Amino acid sequence: MKVLGISGSPRAGGNTELLVQAALQELQTEGIETEFVSLAGRPILPCTACDDCSHVDRPMCTLGDEGFDGMIERFMAADGILIGSPVYFGSATPETMALLDRVGLVSLRNGRFLRRKVGAAIAVARRAGQNFTFAQLNYFFLINEMIIPGSTYWNIAFGREKGEVAKDDEGLQTIKNLAHNMAFLLQKLNA
Ligand SMILES: Cc1cc2nc3c(=O)[nH]c(=O)nc-3n(C[C@H](O)[C@H](O)[C@H](O)COP(=O)(O)O)c2cc1C
Repeated sequence: MKVLGISGSPRAGGNTELLVQAALQELQTEGIETEFVSLAGRPILPCTACDDCSHVDRPMCTLGDEGFDGMIERFMAADGILIGSPVYFGSATPETMALLDRVGLVSLRNGRFLRRKVGAAIAVARRAGQNFTFAQLNYFFLINEMIIPGSTYWNIAFGREKGEVAKDDEGLQTIKNLAHNMAFLLQKLNA
């Protein structure tokens, strides 16, 4: 079983990466293979609604930008998707949504390959907006027929400067508990 962990922050080495990596480490202790992808330095164009993905012979997006290269294959190969985003003005980052819009539309137009994968979201912010962003990411999972595990709190944490989120003990523990519940769900679904 494999979980694809994505940090949707444009800032390398920041709080989102730290949280997603913490979750992936816990998943590894449960024997789950993980892959980490950071969107920092990996520009991804937004969906242009060209609808070319309705007329392809395999699931793909025809925009052809380097940042998106391999993303469809990664999502298809994963049993679970873990997406972290910082809060930017109350929402997920444009990088995160550009990726999800495109993967989501390619999935819808090509046999709904996201269906019944496990999805988990993490949101981090300096002060507020985590719950809205958490919900925003969960809406993506739900409309794609994905299955969402819970944790001991909503999967949110606090931090502003790089690494500051490491001081949020409850936030970190929530993310670790989420990872173990995700592993439990994956194991049940794939038994
Ligand atoms: C453009 C921008 C908008 C932001 N908007 C918010 C916000 O609405 N609420 C908040 O609490 N923090 C906000 N922040 C702070 C980030 O969410 C916070 O620094 C977070 O830890 C960044 O995650 P990263 O280290 O993974 O990049 C914003 C930061 C930037 C750069």
